[in-house]
Formats: sequence, structure tokens, C-alpha cells
Amino acid sequence: MRTQVGIIGAGPAGLMLSHLLHLEGIESVVLEAHTRQYVEERVRAGVLEQATVDLMVETGLGARLKQEGLLHNGIKLSFGGCRHRIDFRDLTPGRTITVYAQQEILKDLIQARLDSGGQIHFDVSAVSLHGLDTAAPVIRYRAGGDSREIHCDFLAGCDGSHGVSRTSIPAGALAVFERTYPFAWLGILAEAPPASEEPIYSHHQQGFALFSMRSPKITRLYLQCAPDEDLDQWPDSRIWEALRTRHATSDGWRPVEGPILQKGITGMRSFVVEPMQFGRLFLAGDAAHIVPPTGAKGMNLAIADVRVLARGLAEFYASGRKDLLDQYSATCLRRVWKVQRFSWWMTSMLHRFDAEDGFEYRRQLAELDYVTGSRAASMSLAENYVGLPMDY
Ligand code: FAD
Ligand code: DHB
Repeated sequence: MRTQVGIIGAGPAGLMLSHLLHLEGIESVVLEAHTRQYVEERVRAGVLEQATVDLMVETGLGARLKQEGLLHNGIKLSFGGCRHRIDFRDLTPGRTITVYAQQEILKDLIQARLDSGGQIHFDVSAVSLHGLDTAAPVIRYRAGGDSREIHCDFLAGCDGSHGVSRTSIPAGALAVFERTYPFAWLGILAEAPPASEEPIYSHHQQGFALFSMRSPKITRLYLQCAPDEDLDQWPDSRIWEALRTRHATSDGWRPVEGPILQKGITGMRSFVVEPMQFGRLFLAGDAAHIVPPTGAKGMNLAIADVRVLARGLAEFYASGRKDLLDQYSATCLRRVWKVQRFSWWMTSMLHRFDAEDGFEYRRQLAELDYVTGSRAASMSLAENYVGLPMDY
């Protein structure tokens, strides 16, 4: 088989890239290790920056998003028993965020690709990449018991943090920058109407808690926990008690409780490889960088990468010029590092790093007091949260 761009991974990066390339008249094939059902049901991100929403709408994927997405004009920060609002619409000005689950975006993208005759091969195995530093790279894989090959002009490694693309690059060609955190998140989906219209980030002596939502009937909640936390130690009653305690404010607000539909633990890591390219292989999204989830940035960053890549590939196929492709890594990394900074900062301000460290605890409270009390500081949080401009 032959295609112009071989894409590894049917997550937000891989599917959006395939969609954008199709709109430019460029053919691609997407290979995915999991089944379509698995990809469409995996619960992950939920907060979309304004630019991600705009891209979905401009490229014909806005119908369900506009109907079912929950538009938010701000978030709340809770600390010291009080809740404070950061008003995005006022501070940015006019920009907002939308809660629409990652798996819903993936459903929309998969349907759009299949409706236009796009090729997505699910449930493939033994994917390997060859000839990365030649003009004719090849992907080999197995599907339904057969060995197959795709000959490509370019490869896009969109296969997430545990994929095969990054590890196919020779050792020494990439520099790795990394930070791990001494905690993880325990996330739940609950069948309960959201008790707040906007997400709430709560700082508490027992650890961070986050209140979010997925629909008028479903609440999404997260709790800081140990990195090696055993889910069996968290019966539903303990989860609700921790959520009530950590979100408690003097006005008596508490989340509405209901049956827990799903539970999971998510590790926290900051990770970047440089450059995001080797020969004809371009890395995008979590394959190239991971942010801790506190700023809700991972999926938005994955989509920002593939916008840059699609533009570079479009220029190449239209004119034969590689200027934008040659700048791909540098263009993306400028944004990646700013988003890393913001995600690290939100994480550092809101989580308990060391239960014994009274200095750190008071410094965090002072920082939250400053961020919510100073218009300049609130504005800085707001402009990062709604998404920095695409500067390419
Ligand atoms: P992925 O979504 O990981 O997709 C990669 C795909 O490649 C997967 O489908 C995988 O099965 C496939 N694959 C892997 N290996 C292979 C292989 N060898 N061959 C073929 N296919 C392969 N981000 C936000 O922006 N906002 C949020 O609110 C947010 N909250 C989050 C909350 C949680 C609990 C978690 C876990 C993440 C959150 N994120 C959030 C991060 C976001 O989910 C990721 O950054 C995003 O999924 C990255 O997209 P991607 O396409 O790069 O990678
Ligand atoms: C959600 C996830 C995040 O990481 C975040 O910062 C805010 C909201 C969510 O899943 O809704």
C-alpha cells in the first residue's frame, strides 16, 4: 500500500491531522493499536481552549460540539475556606473554554474521516517504522493475522507517550527533559448533576481536588492521591468524604453525590523531547510531550502541534518547499514550553508536595491570594487557560 502521510495513532493528534490533511487534498492512512470501541469510550480530557473549538467549527466538526458542549466563562479557585472566580470573558477579553469530552471529539473525527472515505485501521499490532532518514519511509504492521506495509512520503508519530514512534528514533538523536511529581490523580465520573456551573480547583491541606462536569447529569471529579495509590483502598464512601472535605467552603457548598460510573488513576509528569522530528518522522502530541493535567492542556497542545504540521505538509505538496516543515519542531516547542510552564505552575500552586512543609503551604496560600486579588495575576492565569494565541 502507498499513501502520502502515514499516521501512527488515532488519538486527537492523529485523527485531527488526518482530517486537516484531507481538507488540503492530502491522503493519509491512520494506524491504531486499539479497537474503535476502545478509542471511542476511553475517558480522558474534557476542557477545550477557544482555538480548539474554533478549529472544530471551522473544519466542519462543530455540530455536536455546539449542541452538547458546555461553554464556561470562567473557573473558580478555592482555598482557605473561600471560593474566588477567575472571569475569563472579562479578563481575556471575550474568550471562553468549552467542556466537551475527548472521546466525543474522537467520535466526531472518526465519523468525519470515514464519511469522506478516509482510511483508519484499528486493532493493528507489531507496528514498526523504517527508513526514517530516507525520502521513502515505510510502516510495517500486522492486521488480522497478515503482515502489511505502507510506503509513505512522511510519517506522523501521534501514538501517545507509550507509542512506538519516539522509540524508533536512534538513541542520542533526541534530548529528553523531564520532571515527575510525588502524586497522581484519582478521577471519577459520577451520575450526579454538577453542583457548580464552572470547574473548581481546590487547594487543601489534605491535597488538591478538582470539580468538573461532562453534561447536565454527569459530574467529573479528581483527587490528589499517592502515585502508587491502590484503587481498592478507595471505596465510594471514602472518595465522597475526601471530595466534601477538600472542596469545603464557608458557604456550605458541596458536590452532589451519585453512583460512581468509572474510576481511574492518572500519573503526573512533565516531559518534552527535542527536536520533535527525525528525518521524515514528525512527532506530535503526547508522543513528544506530556504536561501534568492541572491546566487542562494536553489535548489542546496535541491539536496545536498538528495544525502546524498540516500547514507544513500543505506547503510541501503545493510548492515543493520545506521551509515550514523544517521549522516544525522549533515552532511547536515555543508553545510547548510555555504550556509546560503554565501546567507546572498550576500544579505547584495547588498540590500538597510535602505534608510537613508549612513554609510551602503558606507560600501557596499567598500565591492563590495574589492570583485572585491582583487583576494582572488573574489575567495571566486567564490568558493561559483559554489558550495562548497560535503564533505561527
Ligand atoms: P493519545 O490520545 O494518547 O493517542 C495516541 C493513540 O495512539 C492512542 O489511541 C493509542 O492507542 C495509539 N497507539 C499507541 N501506541 C501505538 C502503536 N504502537 N501503534 C498504533 N497506535 C498506537 N488534556 C486537555 O487538553 N484537557 C484536559 O482537560 C485533560 N484532562 C486529562 C485528564 C486525564 C485524566 C488524562 C489522562 C489526560 C488529560 N488530558 C487533558 C491529556 C490528554 O488526554 C492527552 O494529552 C491527549 O490524549 C493527547 O493526544 P494524543 O493524540 O497526542 O495521544
Ligand atoms: C478536567 C480535566 C483537567 O485536567 C482540568 O484541569 C480541568 C477539567 C476535566 O476532565 O473536566
